Amino acid sequence: MNKSFDEMYREWTEKTLQLLEKYPEQKDRFETLSGIEVNRLYTSHNEQDMEKIGFPGEYPYTRGIRPTMYRSRNWTMRQYAGFGSATETNKRFRYLLEQGQTGLSVAFDLPTQIGYDSDDPMAQGEVGKVGVAIDSLEDMERLLKGIPLDQVSTSMTINAPASVLLAMYIAVGEKQGVPVEKLTGTIQNDILKEYIARGTYIFPPKSSMRLITDIFAYCAECVPKWNTISISGYHIREAGSTAVQEVAFTLANGIAYVHAAMKAGLEVERFAPRLSFFFNAHNHFFEEVAKFRASRRLWARIMKERFQASSPRSMQLRFHTQTGGSTLTAQQPDNNVVRVTLQALAAVLGGTQSLHTNARDEALALPTEESARVALRTQQIIAHESGVTHTVDPLGGSWYVEWLTDEIEKRALSYIERIDEMGGAVAAVEQGYMQREIQHAALETQRKIESGEEVLVGVNRYRLENEQQPDLYQVDPLLAKDQVKRLNALRGKRDGEKVTDCLAALKRGAESDENLMPYILDAVRAYATVGEICHALRDVFGEYRPSI
Ligand code: 3HC
Repeated sequence: MNKSFDEMYREWTEKTLQLLEKYPEQKDRFETLSGIEVNRLYTSHNEQDMEKIGFPGEYPYTRGIRPTMYRSRNWTMRQYAGFGSATETNKRFRYLLEQGQTGLSVAFDLPTQIGYDSDDPMAQGEVGKVGVAIDSLEDMERLLKGIPLDQVSTSMTINAPASVLLAMYIAVGEKQGVPVEKLTGTIQNDILKEYIARGTYIFPPKSSMRLITDIFAYCAECVPKWNTISISGYHIREAGSTAVQEVAFTLANGIAYVHAAMKAGLEVERFAPRLSFFFNAHNHFFEEVAKFRASRRLWARIMKERFQASSPRSMQLRFHTQTGGSTLTAQQPDNNVVRVTLQALAAVLGGTQSLHTNARDEALALPTEESARVALRTQQIIAHESGVTHTVDPLGGSWYVEWLTDEIEKRALSYIERIDEMGGAVAAVEQGYMQREIQHAALETQRKIESGEEVLVGVNRYRLENEQQPDLYQVDPLLAKDQVKRLNALRGKRDGEKVTDCLAALKRGAESDENLMPYILDAVRAYATVGEICHALRDVFGEYRPSI
C-alpha cells in the first residue's frame, strides 16, 4: 500500500534531522533580505508527484542527492588550472586557494595527456601550452608543493595515462606522510568520450577499459575516498551535441563502464559509489537546469533497475560542472562574464557538487590571474549574495521545469535504448554512431548562427568595430627548453637500472591479466617518466587507430 504524503514527509524529516548531526546547516535561520524565513523544502503534497520526483536526498534524487544540499555545504569551487611548468602552476593553485577556491583541478599539457615526455619529438610545440607539463614524480612534487593532500581534494583531467598520474599523486602523498586512504580527489579516466569527442586516447578500447577497471579495483581496495572516474558529457557538448545527447551519451558511457567493471569481477557496491560525472553548463538556462535533474533521475533508475544497486551512494549521480567553453566569444570578452554567470547559476539550480567557471578571456588565451579571479568571484557571489542556496532545489515544482525534466529524460532514454540495440556504447563508438549524431547537431547549430536565426551577442548582432584586445596571458618562450633541461637532469641522477627493471616488470604485468596499478606505482616511485611508462604499455597494447 503506497504511503500517504504525511507519512513520507515525516520519514524524510526524521532522516534529515539525523544527518544534520554530521552535516549541520550553515545557518540556524535562512531568510530573505526582508527578513522572511526560508524553509529547507517547498514541495507538492500530491503522492503521484512525490512518487516521480521524490524528496531531496531520496531516490530517484530528482531534487538533489542530499536532503539539505547547499544549506549544509556549498558546492566545491574547483577552478581548472594548469600551464607552463609545475612551479608556475603551483603558484596559480596557491593563489586560487588563497582567493577562496575550495578544491583543486589540474589541467595537463597535451604531451602529458597523450603519454609523451617533454623531449619527445611528438611533444614539439605543445610543452606546457594547454596545461602543465608533468614528466615525472619530481614535477608532481613541485606541482603540489605546500598543498596539504589530506585537506584538499584534487581533480586531474587525465584519461589515457590516468593510472600513471594517480600513481604519482599517491607517491606525493607518501612523501607528505598522508596515508593513501585519506587522499580525496578524482581522475577523469573516461576514455570513451575521448574516442567520441576529445581525442586524447592512446590505447585500443579493450586495453583502455582494462586500465580503467584496474583503477576501480585498486582504489576500492586501497584509496577508498578517491573518485575513480569522471564520466564526462562536457566535451561531448563542446563538440556540438544537444543537451539531450549530452545526457544520453554520457549515461550510455556510464553503463559501459559499469558493465566492464562487473565483467572484471567487481561487485556493483564495491565501485559504483565512487563513479562521478562531469557535465557542461551551456546556454538556454531552463534546459540546463532540467538536464541536470533528468540526469540524476535517469542514472538512479539505471543503477537500481538495470544493475540492482542497493546502496543510496551507488544510485546517486554526483557531478562537476564547467560552464560552456564553446559559448565564450572572442568579441567583447566582458560579455562572457554575463554568460558564465547565467551558466553557473543553472548548474547551481541544477544541484551540482563541484563547479568551474570559465574566465572571460578564454576564447583568446589561457586566463590571466585577474580574469581567473573574476571567474571565481562569480561563483562566490552566487553562493553568498544571491540567496539561491537557502532552500533545496528552488525551481522544483515549476510546471515548466518539471515538464522539461520529463521531456529530456524521455528523449535521452530513447537514445540509450538505441545504443543498447547497437550493443552498447563501445560498439556505438566503434560504429561512429555518437560521433555522427554530434556532427549533425553541431552543423545545425552552426547553420542557425550563420543565418542569424540564433543570436550571438557581439558576434552576429550588436557588433563593435575596431575592438581593443584585452591584456592576455603570455606563454614563456623558454618554457620547453627549461622543462627538457629539468628532465635530463632527472634522468642523470635517478637509478637507471631500477627504472629499467620496473618498466620490464610492467610490460610482463601488461601481458598477463594482473592489476597494473602496483607496477605503475613502483615505476613512478623510481622516477620513471610518463612517456617511458606509456611507451612500455604501447609496446604491449599498441595504439588506437580509429577506422571511421
Ligand atoms: N550533506 C552531507 N554530506 C555532504 C554534503 C551535504 N550537504 N555536501 C558535501 N558532503 C560531503 C560529501 O559526502 C563528500 O564526502 P564523501 O566523498 O565521503 O562522499 C564531501 O562532503 C565532499 O563533497 P562532494 O563529494 O559533494 O564534493 P567534491 O568536490 O569532493 O566531489 C565530485 C565532487 C563531482 C564527486 C568529484 O568527482 C569532483 O570533484 N569532480 C571534479 C571533476 C573536475 O573538476 N573535472 C574538471 C575537468 S576539466 C575538463 O575536462 C575540461 C577541459 O578538457 C577543457
